[in-house]
Amino acid sequence: MTTLTKTGLLSLVTLTLIGCGDTYSSKDSNNDNNRLKSLNRTVNFLTDTDGMSLYTFDKDTLNQSNCDAECQKIWPLFVGANTTSEDIKVLDGTDHLAYRKHPLYYFVNDNAIGNVNGDNIKNVWHLLYAPKSSNDSQTEYSAETMTQTYLTDKDGRTLYTFDKDTEGVSNCYGACEETWPIYYNSNVQSVPTTLKTSDFTTISRDANKSKTGVLKQTAYKGKPLYYFTPDAKKSGVTKGDWVKGVWHVVEISAQKTSTVVASPYTAEAVEKGKVIFTNPAKCSSCHGADGQTKPLGVDNIIARYGDAELITKKLKDMRDNGNPNNRNSAMVSVASGLSDEAIINLSAFVATLKK
Ligand code: HEC
Repeated sequence: MTTLTKTGLLSLVTLTLIGCGDTYSSKDSNNDNNRLKSLNRTVNFLTDTDGMSLYTFDKDTLNQSNCDAECQKIWPLFVGANTTSEDIKVLDGTDHLAYRKHPLYYFVNDNAIGNVNGDNIKNVWHLLYAPKSSNDSQTEYSAETMTQTYLTDKDGRTLYTFDKDTEGVSNCYGACEETWPIYYNSNVQSVPTTLKTSDFTTISRDANKSKTGVLKQTAYKGKPLYYFTPDAKKSGVTKGDWVKGVWHVVEISAQKTSTVVASPYTAEAVEKGKVIFTNPAKCSSCHGADGQTKPLGVDNIIARYGDAELITKKLKDMRDNGNPNNRNSAMVSVASGLSDEAIINLSAFVATLKK
């Protein structure tokens, strides 16, 4: 998110400061210090109450849309009534809704719930991963999730950007510096793949305004980088994301989390398969109860396969696919009488036999 504003004023979050005395910068000469890393997190994205995805636009400024009539043909405005929500508000004089000062849009090519076709278009349109606002009747969380990869320091501590900074200029001084410690790495040499080391630069901080005396700061694409004190220097903590609507993690990429299909080869399937295999000697009469017997003298000991999916494929090839491996006809005739469920259960069991 690179939404910028001209005001340098800060509204500060009230926070208990932890370990302010410690330095966040890397002091020893270990090569690892020149490295930036990334971590993944699973996040839900903001949708309207029907489940359609909503997006933000990096070229907007806080509380102001910069998407003109042409742009709106592709990115229709998310409109609604003013709500009692703290975070969802209409922009002044319009019915265009914004989340924590960030105007919201649909993408014209999202046709169904769960479509996220607009994400990262031109690198300026993004899904929004944010805390659900209280009293909000306009938006929801997606049921589906995204895996987001975001930027961290060498130890996996999250780095943030600040919407009130301008390119190469930090507007975080005083108490802000204590809540958002400066990230400075004098020699960035290794960054997560897909990023370029040349996008990391050093900016100068104003000595007159600085409270901490840290006068250099690392910036990514001109945006100064910070830690968040309540993250307590722990790897993988992102408590600072969306604070006041103006602090954000640095997204490297985001992908829809692939639906994990549960394996059918469960412990229960193994038990059921064992019953079919041995009782009443449906398979064990030829293969032996331990699967170690050469069936009808043929050198094909099934205990050696050890892979349920492979065994399912073999049984289905004989049953459904015209026996492509030209197996013994006695076996093919056995396979032809097996149901899908029996094949799954038998495969689960045969895969557990000692090789
Ligand atoms: C009448 C004897 C007989 C019975 C009963 C029998 N099989 Fe077989 N089975 C064979 C023979 C023979 C082969 C070797 C086929 C070949 O390699 O040509 C074989 C091979 C297999 C293979 C390996 C196939 C391949 O493509 O390599 C599997 C798996 C298998 N049997 C599972 C079973 C299961 C499960 C049962 C019980 C539902 C069963 N068999 C019952 C005779 C039998």
